[in-house]
Amino acid sequence: MHSSILFKLSLATAFASLSTAHTVLTTLFIDDVNQGDGTCIRMPKEGNVCTHPIAGGFESPDMACGRDGQQAVAFTCPAAAGSKLTFEFRMWADASQPGSIDPSHLGSTAIYLKSISSMSTDSAAGEGWFKIYAEGYDATARKWSTEKLIDNNGLLSINLPSGLPTGYYLVRSELVTLNNVTNDYVDPQFYVNCAQLFIQGVSGSLEVPSDKLVSIPGHVQPTHEGLSFNIWKDDPTITPYRVVGPEPFFPTADTSNMELSQNQTEGLIPTNCLLKNANWCGVEVPAYNDEATCWASSADCWAQLDACYKSAPPTGSRGCQIWEDQKCAVIQEACGAGRWQGGPLGAGQKLDVEVDQPVPGGVIPPAANADRLFGREASSST
Ligand SMILES: *[C@@H]1O[C@H](CO)[C@@H](O)[C@H](O)[C@H]1NC(C)=O
Ligand SMILES: *[C@@H]1O[C@H](CO)[C@@H](O)[C@H](O)[C@H]1NC(C)=O
Repeated sequence: MHSSILFKLSLATAFASLSTAHTVLTTLFIDDVNQGDGTCIRMPKEGNVCTHPIAGGFESPDMACGRDGQQAVAFTCPAAAGSKLTFEFRMWADASQPGSIDPSHLGSTAIYLKSISSMSTDSAAGEGWFKIYAEGYDATARKWSTEKLIDNNGLLSINLPSGLPTGYYLVRSELVTLNNVTNDYVDPQFYVNCAQLFIQGVSGSLEVPSDKLVSIPGHVQPTHEGLSFNIWKDDPTITPYRVVGPEPFFPTADTSNMELSQNQTEGLIPTNCLLKNANWCGVEVPAYNDEATCWASSADCWAQLDACYKSAPPTGSRGCQIWEDQKCAVIQEACGAGRWQGGPLGAGQKLDVEVDQPVPGGVIPPAANADRLFGREASSST
């Protein structure tokens, strides 16, 4: 009796770890600057499935940008063409436990781009995608790309092509893992996420050769040899692994040709954010001088807090908690105590606190200042 309970418990634990040993893109860095957990990322909204592979097969629209990936998030991060992008992957979106992806999940990594005219109206699914980076098995290092990702604390860095025209882009990460591909069944797992970028690049329009341009869903033929590779049997040093999807296209340009032919108008992170949590930003409440305006400011604060919690992705709501404790609770207390004059105290001061989870291994000097919390603020948003 006792031992059977123990057995059931350990079985349950085994299943729990199976279901969470997957991965999700949580954080984007631009030239080593942390943009903030969840900021500019179209993350699945449900925490319990956010790390799961795409369900519904190769024809699912989720193949484009993952679950909930058809919906834009509020912020779009500015990045110069040619700049360094780093993608952080976690097994637990909120970093409540360490790890980037289960070591059994051997497979490839790839990065795609799609030029769009608007984040809110253009569809992620459909034509216009091209690959700028891919890695399958590194025969020199004798490692799969996902093993190198684990070695690098879940951080994957690439450079954006220098020859990208200025404009809005979706950048898409795709991990294809072969842990569930055997002689008996072929069930490759696709881990797909997107981030929203405004790329400051060259003038002109983007000309991608037609053989390098794909529609997603539709970029993967179910018969592609990269989907049926049996990691338990095939030796990638003998049978080279071929990554799925088109050949990469990497347009280069003389960077002296860079010009801002277009300024970012959508998805700007407001310069007056006092605190940011993923794609939410808290701004100063209206000034108050009497009982009525005090309570109105308090209500404004709590309404912002409500929006913060509602928008918080699975990376968490630490920023919301700080807003609640250090802003709303303080104002509410002041109103209740009759301190209605000259509020709020410290108006306009940024809440200079750590909202994001520490980066394992680190890609940036962890300076706790507003520049790090807010990333590069767009100069045109004032
Ligand atoms: C592995 O693939 C089979 C066949 O598609 C499926 O029934 C099973 O649930 C998969 N297992 C995991 C752990 O994904
Ligand atoms: C972009 O913004 C800058 C600074 O506000 C301005 O000088 C420039 O003319 C703008 N460019 C375009 C194409 O609107």
